[in-house]
Amino acid sequence: MTATRVREKEREREAGQVTFSFHSFHSWIENKPGRPLAAPIAIAPMAMMRLAHPDGELAMASAAARAGLPMVVSTMGTAALEDVADAAKAAAAAAGTATATPPLLFQLYVTRDRAFTASLVQRAEAAGFAAIVVTVDVPVLGKREADERLGFALPPGLRLANLEGLADDGDESAGSAAGGAAASTTASVATAASPGSRLAALFQRNIDASLTWTFVAWLRTVTRLPIWVKGVLAPDDALLALRAGVGGLIISNHGGRQLDGAPAAADCVRPIAAAVRRRIPVWVDGGVRRGADVLRALALGADGVLVGRPILYGLALGGVGGAGAALDLLTGELRRSMALAGCPTLADARRVVLLGPGETPEVSSRL
Ligand SMILES: Cc1cc2nc3c(=O)[nH]c(=O)nc-3n(C[C@H](O)[C@H](O)[C@H](O)COP(=O)(O)O)c2cc1C
Repeated sequence: MTATRVREKEREREAGQVTFSFHSFHSWIENKPGRPLAAPIAIAPMAMMRLAHPDGELAMASAAARAGLPMVVSTMGTAALEDVADAAKAAAAAAGTATATPPLLFQLYVTRDRAFTASLVQRAEAAGFAAIVVTVDVPVLGKREADERLGFALPPGLRLANLEGLADDGDESAGSAAGGAAASTTASVATAASPGSRLAALFQRNIDASLTWTFVAWLRTVTRLPIWVKGVLAPDDALLALRAGVGGLIISNHGGRQLDGAPAAADCVRPIAAAVRRRIPVWVDGGVRRGADVLRALALGADGVLVGRPILYGLALGGVGGAGAALDLLTGELRRSMALAGCPTLADARRVVLLGPGETPEVSSRL
């Protein structure tokens, strides 16, 4: 490093600034050198955002685009994926960053109706999505007892916009399984003749619970987009994913919403990163609430984090402004945490030594 560069870094450190020279996510998903992201933070896929705010997915995508961060858009959205892509582009253009619109990734639940899944993936590709993220930890929905008790359904007027056209043999159409005529109001569904969660019923009827790694080869026949996998916790699964040719991994236990007793995603980062050896990017989600949590994830070996609920709460409170404020808080905290830990760059963040309870710093053998 030149003396000038060293001085530059010193100045950054003094000013409490950090440089996000973070290319890996962008370049990997685009399969070419990409533009840096504003931070190693992406919005986790979350279903039905119009339950949180009337502007739902459109507001979330706008907030992500303004912040220069990627968003993973759920199959189970209440806005069509094309409309979400348009909202992101419009927000980036309004913010003067149209040439650097951060990527959108499409989160895929693989339905038994493969023709429908193929058409969904191709719609995402046509709409400019940068990658397909297949969620593999929901062969069946976890038992959500409150949803069962309340007979969860979307209120009237809201629809699972991406699932329209799915041939569903249930007692209501896929779109209306969570809204529409058959489920007139959440309250009336709670006392309806067919009790239970309509979302769980929709999953049970339509999601392919028998998925194996061969789906990666199949997906490749219907799209040229990179294929990522979300919901891996075991190093062996990470290696199987690598062998199957996935472009990236998201370590996740679905926010603790699926299998009781599953390990914390953060605890799985180190072994998976060690197994993967940086051959593909490894991201993690679950419980990232503060900038220091992002720093810890990087120090454990992750390339970045996805954040779900905190940003959803921001959306619920203030629409696009609320989601944007939550993202600003998080990226601001990350910058501050990195500065406090003496990390001018993300590469430095990855070298931070984390101490467990009772552990003390040791002299590095490199000095
Ligand atoms: C309301 C809600 C809806 C979700 N919907 C999806 C989904 O459609 N697809 C998916 O892969 N994960 C979904 N998830 C899981 C998140 O992507 C993420 O793995 C989890 O929330 C952990 O991140 P967090 O602790 O920051 O919320 C959902 C989570 C929440 C809270």
